[in-house]
Amino acid sequence: MVKALTGIKSIKDFSLKEKRVFLRLDLNVPMRDGKITDDTRIQAALPTIKYALEQGAHLVIASHLGRPKGPEDRETMSLEPVAQALNQQLGLEVILVDDPRSDAPKALLGGLKDKQVIMLENLRFDSDETKNGEGLAHEISKYVDIYINDAFGASHRAHSSVVKLPSLVEQRGVGFLMEKELSVLGQLLEPPAKPFVTILGGAKVSDKIGV
Ligand code: 3PG
Repeated sequence: MVKALTGIKSIKDFSLKEKRVFLRLDLNVPMRDGKITDDTRIQAALPTIKYALEQGAHLVIASHLGRPKGPEDRETMSLEPVAQALNQQLGLEVILVDDPRSDAPKALLGGLKDKQVIMLENLRFDSDETKNGEGLAHEISKYVDIYINDAFGASHRAHSSVVKLPSLVEQRGVGFLMEKELSVLGQLLEPPAKPFVTILGGAKVSDKIGV
């Protein structure tokens, strides 16, 4: 095991049967005119979702999408298209919950049927998310038994669903995508065979130059 994964539990270390599992994913997919233009992140999330369902977990899926500035962005930055994509990819019935602080997730979790999952609306619609606020995390923690982070692309953010929430849930670990990313990156850091070449790309190059 690479150093980057030391002390971190894998989703495989938990018994998920009948457990309420919160799965933090990075489903921040590019969109144009309400349509997903690249579903790579959805594809990358599928193995962990499938595994959790096969193990009998009651799933709450959560992600951010874009950088909403206020209520005016609720329509264009809704996770609804992502919920539809999950339905097409896995045949899941995704129940989109508007307010993660409401009683809805807790009430729904008790009666989820096969192939039904809950998805929380864009976490950044709640102002606590980007402030690493306790209120949102506290409300979510009331209906979560196990916290799984598979949102590699969002884990550099000190946001509520990434930092505060897992601090309130005793059983926590990472999914398959996070494990893969950490083991590949871990090998590069520990220390890499030289000489080596780094190729950087993607939409947010300015963030990466610093690294
Ligand atoms: C990304 O697309 O890089 C991640 O989802 C993080 O999004 P953010 O840069 O808006 O925090």
